[in-house]
Amino acid sequence: MINLTSDNLQKIEKFILDYSGIVISRIPAKGIQEKIGQHIALLGLNSVEDYIFLLKSPSGGLIRDELMSRITVAESFFFRNPSQFKYISTELFSEFVENRRALDLNEIKIWSAGCAGGEEPFSVAYIVKWFLRAKPDAKFYITASDINSRNLEKARQGLFKPRSFRKQSWEFQKEYKLPLTEENSDGYRIRREIREIVNFKFLNLKDIDSLKTQAGSDIILCRNVLIYFEERFRIELAAMFHKLLNPGGMLFLGETESLSSFNELFELKHCLGAYGYRKIRQ
Ligand SMILES: C[S@@+](CC[C@H](N)C(=O)[O-])C[C@H]1O[C@@H](n2cnc3c(N)ncnc32)[C@H](O)[C@@H]1O
Repeated sequence: MINLTSDNLQKIEKFILDYSGIVISRIPAKGIQEKIGQHIALLGLNSVEDYIFLLKSPSGGLIRDELMSRITVAESFFFRNPSQFKYISTELFSEFVENRRALDLNEIKIWSAGCAGGEEPFSVAYIVKWFLRAKPDAKFYITASDINSRNLEKARQGLFKPRSFRKQSWEFQKEYKLPLTEENSDGYRIRREIREIVNFKFLNLKDIDSLKTQAGSDIILCRNVLIYFEERFRIELAAMFHKLLNPGGMLFLGETESLSSFNELFELKHCLGAYGYRKIRQ
């Protein structure tokens, strides 16, 4: 296997930063170097220069995908930070449904940006189905995106192992009295009516122009993703989320993340014990 000197590693880290915004040292997982080394060996390459050449080449999509699938952290579980889901389902949806006509809008557009294996967008789809029981005329469109194609493929299948469920995942379903999954010999399968309302797609958040497809969003969840990015990119992304949100739209981040330097664009809102960010200026 090729010797990954610190000089070689720096070159690869620079590529990863430029391509995805990810700062490798922020990834807690061990063995990243080995994973990259194995990838280079699998491709049968003799130098890091050749590896980087392939990663940068226009036809290197599959190689870039494979590298991202190896290094990204896909840790997630259903109804993570349940207060945010409670707030969205019991307060925000009703508000948006009422404002639809005034804003001349139709669907409520929700985007899970950095959706990992699908736990987050299926939790969203679940509360949408719950809400539709009371307001069947409401219209929703859910997009779930990620840079990790392998996880997107897995998410589309809607099959999960017990580790995607925590105590709060079961408590949430008990409270909402709606089953999320059906048991399957391979684990838990998301019920079809919930599964089929999530639209998965590949989106690299670093490719800022490609995010324009998400214009007109009402809710953006980008939770536990910004922590891996450098500050400059976080600032750029938050400004882009602001542009993509409809008036009054909301951005939700992970429990340990904050947008402290954005108080002129977003207002911090208490959401039943959690937080969200409300767009405040055009
Ligand atoms: C820790 S998971 C968070 C999953 C979910 N949002 C949650 O909070 O449970 C982080 C996700 O961000 C994705 N990600 C990292 N960099 C990305 C980028 N540049 N574009 C899109 N997704 C990215 C990773 O592939 C991973 O699936």
